[in-house]
Amino acid sequence: MMPKRLLVRGARQLLTLRGSAPPRRGAGLKELSIIENAAMVVEDGQITAVGPASRIENLATVRHAEELNVRGRVVMPGFVDSHTHLLYGAPRLEDFEMRIAGRSYEEIAAAGGGIASSAKKVRRASQAALRAQAQRELWRMAACGTTTVEAKSGYALDGPGELRCLRVLDGLDGQPIEVLPTFLGAHAVPEEFHGRSDAYIDYLVSEVMPAVAARKLARFVDVYCDRNAFSLPQARRYLEAARRLGFGLRVHAAQFADIGAVALAVELGAHSVDHLERIDPAVIPVLGRSSTVATLLPGSVLFLGGSQHAPARALIEAGAAVALATDYNPGTSPMWNMQMAVALACTQMRMTPAEAIVAATVNAAYSLGIADRTGTLESGKQADFVVLDAGDYREIGYYFGANLAVMTVKNGRLLEPPEEESTDGKETG
Ligand code: NIG
Ligand code: FE
Repeated sequence: MMPKRLLVRGARQLLTLRGSAPPRRGAGLKELSIIENAAMVVEDGQITAVGPASRIENLATVRHAEELNVRGRVVMPGFVDSHTHLLYGAPRLEDFEMRIAGRSYEEIAAAGGGIASSAKKVRRASQAALRAQAQRELWRMAACGTTTVEAKSGYALDGPGELRCLRVLDGLDGQPIEVLPTFLGAHAVPEEFHGRSDAYIDYLVSEVMPAVAARKLARFVDVYCDRNAFSLPQARRYLEAARRLGFGLRVHAAQFADIGAVALAVELGAHSVDHLERIDPAVIPVLGRSSTVATLLPGSVLFLGGSQHAPARALIEAGAAVALATDYNPGTSPMWNMQMAVALACTQMRMTPAEAIVAATVNAAYSLGIADRTGTLESGKQADFVVLDAGDYREIGYYFGANLAVMTVKNGRLLEPPEEESTDGKETG
């Protein structure tokens, strides 16, 4: 049971992230608004006071509150992972070995691996098995301090399968963290539409997308628009249809080549444009002036053995609202830990630890349209926070590959995985 009133005390550094209205850009990306020796009051899952311990602990209202003593650690907003392919059935270990042997991601996909091979497995998997897989990953994310996650479909690639995956995601919402589903029908061309990608887009636009909208199974629609993926005219047609149906837009763009997808995302007012490793330098100022969030995914670059990361510094200098996410998926980024995304942002893209933390919380929340309730630790916001075994927030980007999270709290509730959710790899469904 969640106590009615909770006093969080003993924070050596409490990163409130209070600051300018999101999305944060330029100097705003550094606004952590740290309170040293801080305390915070939570009532009914919401933050009601935050400040120096000397003031907060003397408030009359905290006299009978339950206490959570974090013993000199760092407290910050829970991570908002704004780009994941959470529900995928099974890892792609064959692809992994092929890549080690020297084949590229695009070659593996063309040879029958890749996204379409996941789709074959996901179509055959039982609903219970899919649920068990995604549930296990949600607990792993929560254990690393993530409190909100965006989750894309896109591993069934037909109407019934995509709806089934979105229903599973819907059923996982809040168990244990918040899940915001995105419809990614245009992720790859399924077998039965081989060589007929235009017909597949027609099918998605005329049948599947309206069904997703009618059942309110997704807030966002996403497309993989790149070389060897969907073309610019196909993406435009699909995204315009999505916009007419009231979906927010997200776009996979410039992962391998900028074929115009970044400019299209900006033109259509997308919430987010993601990847950007190969963004055309001429488009950087256009993105910088827009309200579309630039979501960077350094985990996929690392895992694919690449060296060309998104030009984070140039994007920040151009005024872009930068966010960070894991891109958690079985093909390019089997990484669920947002702390690792922060570390990669610092070491590979030269973002400062402060910029990376703003990108991984408040800006990611903005890209999902939820910055009014999560992403910062301020009165009136959800009590979504993580306690890190660190005395200084910069350790998050420094101890790379580690999990410093010792407690994750969602809506005021301390998350503790039940026994049967242990991550031993066994299917429970
Ligand atoms: O964001 N490149 C497109 N989509 C994913 C990969 C999905 C997969 O390979 O299963 C990405 O990297
Ligand atoms: Fe992705």
